[in-house]
Amino acid sequence: MTRFVLDGAVMEVEATATASVLDLLRYTLRRTGTKEGCAEGDCGACTVLLGELDGGAVAWRAVNACILFVPMLDGKALRTVESLSVDGALHPVQREMVDRHGSQCGFCTPGFVMSLYGRSIGAAGTLDEPVADVIAGNLCRCTGYGPILDAGEAVPPGKSDDEDIAALLRGIARRGSGADWFAPRTAGELATLLAAHPGARIVAGATDVGLWVTKQYRDLGTVIFIGDVADLRAIEEDADGLTLGAGVRYTEARAALARLHPDLGELVRRIGGLQVRNSGTIGGNIANGSPIGDMPPALIALGATLTLRRGDARRTIPLESFFLRYGVQDRAPDEFVESVHVPHPSADTIIRIVKLSKRFDSDISAVCGAFAITVEQDQVTAARIAFGGMAGTPARAAACEAALIGQPWSEMTIEVAAQALARDYAPLTDVRGSSAYRLTVAANLLRRLWAERSGDMTSVLADG
Ligand code: FES
Ligand code: FES
Repeated sequence: MTRFVLDGAVMEVEATATASVLDLLRYTLRRTGTKEGCAEGDCGACTVLLGELDGGAVAWRAVNACILFVPMLDGKALRTVESLSVDGALHPVQREMVDRHGSQCGFCTPGFVMSLYGRSIGAAGTLDEPVADVIAGNLCRCTGYGPILDAGEAVPPGKSDDEDIAALLRGIARRGSGADWFAPRTAGELATLLAAHPGARIVAGATDVGLWVTKQYRDLGTVIFIGDVADLRAIEEDADGLTLGAGVRYTEARAALARLHPDLGELVRRIGGLQVRNSGTIGGNIANGSPIGDMPPALIALGATLTLRRGDARRTIPLESFFLRYGVQDRAPDEFVESVHVPHPSADTIIRIVKLSKRFDSDISAVCGAFAITVEQDQVTAARIAFGGMAGTPARAAACEAALIGQPWSEMTIEVAAQALARDYAPLTDVRGSSAYRLTVAANLLRRLWAERSGDMTSVLADG
């Protein structure tokens, strides 16, 4: 049984672990304003707002209903496009979309309206963000974005009257489990559950696992949702660096990561659309083990360590050693990723993190390169270089690093190291890029780093 608040009423629904909120809305509750475009978190046509208690208030975030599983609603509040108009009157966001011709066929419109509505009430990840960034996870095939951006700019700041919702949320008796799912509240409960159900599928934000269901029709078996595990949601910044609990979402981590290094904040902005960043977690991105996950190369270059927990026992390993080979990570069936720690880079270390993808926004990288090169008295004394999209796992570039360490910090050294990347990687050719393209751009990213540092961009610009 899942209990949640929808427009001032507590709903109770019985659903399997992987039933989607989009299907619940459209086929059970007949709220057909929320659309299905891609069913994979790309188009934003299914955008809804999810609210949860944060102190006495309700914190809202825009999410994609197509890859949100119904049990993830447990104890939360939901707002759909139908929630906005009262007695048939258009909400100011809808009014602006109409007046500024922000809609043609209308299929994408409810999703845009919900994203812009979220911005108007200060939902997660929208504060001080340009309209273009807030709607980067919403696609329109026919209107063109100019009128939609105009509408977004014209929407006045609103206010969400949440007292009744907060009161209902406080009173909801969360069940925390169903026939094939569990939603523990503490890391201790999670450890106990995993001991009883080793191999159960751990789901954090479902931004990738959701597609296993909507695109591959996979049966996930028993699912343990970790989004409500309070002690996995901690962000700790101290003199040593930054520690992120495995359940911290991208949106929540972005500011702290940007304080560690601005390139990390920019990298987070390039992960999915806002709806994806409002659901996906850094821990999930790591545990998933994808060769093109964007955070691992950056965190590996920065020397991150991973803490895994099994029962009450913990072990901490260098992040790079977690990725054993394609699809295989160093995690026992009853073990879970608890946190990742990223040390402060030293003042002598040059950091550069670059994501290359076909679209700037909301796209998967072809290559993601991360460099941490320490230079003291014009000598390279340390180098940690890692790439995504170049091998079956996120991986360090050992030959490239060896070509740098102990050498003078010079263009010649960079050139030798750039060429050494061909010994580190034999990348695949796929829809995102050929093997030759990947090797070429990986080497060029290192050359670009040199050009940026030396102030001479001529050779880089001449090469395109
Ligand atoms: Fe496209 Fe959900 S239907 S993001
Ligand atoms: Fe037709 Fe946007 S108005 S897809």
